[in-house]
Amino acid sequence: MAQPQPGDWPLARAEVETLQGYSAPLEGRRGLLRLDFNENTVGPSPKVVEAIRAIPAEHYAIYPEYDGLKEAFGRSLGGLRADQIGLFNGADGAIHAICQAYGSRGEVMLTTSPTFGYYAPCARMQGMVINAIPHEGDALAFPLQTMRRALSQLNPKLLLLCNPNNPTGTRIPPEHILELAAAAPSTLVVVDELYEAFTGDSVLPLLQASDGADPFASYRNLVVLRSLSKTAGIAGLRIGIAAGSEPVVDRISRVTGPYDINSFGVCAAFAALEDQAHVDAYVTEVLAAKAWLVEQLLKAGIRHQGDGGNYLLIWPRSGAGPTEAALREEGILVRSMAGKALIDGALRVSIGTGEQMQRFWQAYRRCDGID
Ligand SMILES: Cc1ncc(COP(=O)(O)O)c(C=O)c1O
Repeated sequence: MAQPQPGDWPLARAEVETLQGYSAPLEGRRGLLRLDFNENTVGPSPKVVEAIRAIPAEHYAIYPEYDGLKEAFGRSLGGLRADQIGLFNGADGAIHAICQAYGSRGEVMLTTSPTFGYYAPCARMQGMVINAIPHEGDALAFPLQTMRRALSQLNPKLLLLCNPNNPTGTRIPPEHILELAAAAPSTLVVVDELYEAFTGDSVLPLLQASDGADPFASYRNLVVLRSLSKTAGIAGLRIGIAAGSEPVVDRISRVTGPYDINSFGVCAAFAALEDQAHVDAYVTEVLAAKAWLVEQLLKAGIRHQGDGGNYLLIWPRSGAGPTEAALREEGILVRSMAGKALIDGALRVSIGTGEQMQRFWQAYRRCDGID
């Protein structure tokens, strides 16, 4: 049968016809040690599981209800108002909505390189032009000076900053982000704080006024992204939020569907927010496991990188592709950074528990031919 040719079906918008989508694995990961997508590697609080089990079947039949969830997130973020919180289908949903609400053809999205891979397709599907400023030097530092210049010269519609940055682990002092936001009031500055729990670097505490005044009053162009995927252990239930000034959150929320967050996600989110101790204990365990792995890498003389986040870049001597494949044979998934600017040749390895990292390290030594 002849292959269908363009024109045999209704063409999508030009930006979509030429779009290279974000590639994420959508199958074949269960049963393996998943160190490839920076998820929580053990699962959520038992209270989350209990809460989901307690949902009566009749509730499956009705559309989700959201009362109180924005308030609960607001409290967990140090006292933000409900109208300063937008609920999304994961932070991915928020990134998509931000680009849809704010990005027009020909406008600039400014960001860094390399960074989280979903920003670019979301900007491109709007016809935006992406200007990605490379991280600097061997340490892959945040390019502050170049960013300052680009911000004043390009007048971008969006500035996307990931702190700490995925995949380089680069930390940006929150004061620098506020300085950039103050210098460009017509740019929407999006701070992706998905991995904030592993560094404590956030712009939010710097905004919080002691007199109860609106924390976004001086930064109406600032939006902060958080999610329950990376630490709370409910990536599969897709809960993310955007926190910002009320008019901005309103505009971003306008482009989503009325029921984009499902009832299971809502129920799990309430329970997860109520068990911060579970999250804190997991973060502590991951940070200890990361320090242990860094020690092993230093002793073995293996190049690695990654200050912040529950992940590390590791440059295997046998090459990223072969080592990734060999680890898969051992039942361990990691992510090759092949083709990514500045970090081609690296693997990104998510950090889990101490036990999981010991298993990883034993397998890695075999796969990369260490002693
Ligand atoms: C930096 C960053 N932002 C956003 C996301 C999306 O997270 P979510 O699961 O909340 O959609 C990820 C997931 O890998 C990420 O690494």
